Amino acid sequence: MNNLFKTFNQTKYQLVNHGPRNVSVLKQALEVIDGQQASDLYGKGKIIENFQEKMAKFLGKETAVFFPSGTMAQQIALRIWCDEKQLKTVAYHPLSHLEIHEEDGIKELHQIKTILLADKNRVIELDDVVTMNEDIACLLLELPQREIGGQLPEYQTLEAISRYCRDKGIKLHLDGARLFEVLPYYQKSATEVCELFDSVYVSFYKGIGGLAGAILAGDQAFTEKSKVWKKRHGGDLISLYPYIISADHYFDLRKGKMDQYYYDAKELARLFNQCSGLSTIPQEPVSNMFHVHFDFPKEKVISILISIHQETGIGITSNLRDTSSESCYSEISVGDQYHQIPNDELEIMFQLLKERLSGLSFIN
Ligand SMILES: Cc1ncc(COP(=O)(O)O)c(C=O)c1O
Repeated sequence: MNNLFKTFNQTKYQLVNHGPRNVSVLKQALEVIDGQQASDLYGKGKIIENFQEKMAKFLGKETAVFFPSGTMAQQIALRIWCDEKQLKTVAYHPLSHLEIHEEDGIKELHQIKTILLADKNRVIELDDVVTMNEDIACLLLELPQREIGGQLPEYQTLEAISRYCRDKGIKLHLDGARLFEVLPYYQKSATEVCELFDSVYVSFYKGIGGLAGAILAGDQAFTEKSKVWKKRHGGDLISLYPYIISADHYFDLRKGKMDQYYYDAKELARLFNQCSGLSTIPQEPVSNMFHVHFDFPKEKVISILISIHQETGIGITSNLRDTSSESCYSEISVGDQYHQIPNDELEIMFQLLKERLSGLSFIN
């Protein structure tokens, strides 16, 4: 365990997330559940079927299937669209989860070729799709684009891309790992956004804060095929109920709090941007997340963050990644914990951060 992670976890308050990822997350979800309730069995039974129906309705899709992970659900979604068109090519952003975090599962398991659209530092625009030279079966859009701080295309762009894809017979898939988190910015319902897409994946352990798990939604023919692939991938566990119960519990608890997380993220980004030697991307967040980029080497920023964690009892972040030998960044996701910090203590924390970063600028 590194020291930044350790000191962050020892703080009384934290700027980010909903709380520690410990067993009480499951215990809290199970508290209200009748112990006599029957388990799901290999994808069947009330517990899984009711949740699938509830989520299909919320997303405005005909049907939905619960998966243990988004990684599994999305590779399967793309495979189905490729098989349907008999064309094993898809397109997505260069920093998509499939491209950089899944050990090339889509290529190794499914032999699907991927086209990387757009410059990696910005979101995919209509022009990137229209000027693509190759035929594709499916285009995947990630909302928000996590690896660039959670940026979003304009809603009109989404509508235009959707119209274009429908016109050209290209399936449009939504990586909606953080879909609930962007609805306040777009001022749209989940149904309205999902209407633009042929298939949709959403996650239950990011803004929702459950254990793990994903829903894949679309029309009946699509989701029936996805169940077959789920079995082939070993995702049809005899019992998935701990994941389903926690997904359902925290979905009900937090789906109405996304406005609050979004406004808190904007306030928090403003506080960060008052410090010299750092900036947030996006400058004004469009969801509950953003990245803080420091113009100093990672080791120097770590020692400042550790000192602030220890002196103020407020955890700023537990993750910091290099962008070069002279700069680094941290991903910030706002959840329930931000509101628990007393204002005067938050002020002192930011005052200290400001002073210590200016000290670094001076030395530089
Ligand atoms: C944008 C995005 N897509 C897909 C996934 C995959 O989700 P899972 O961890 O459930 O496989 C993640 C997980 O972090 C993600 O951030």
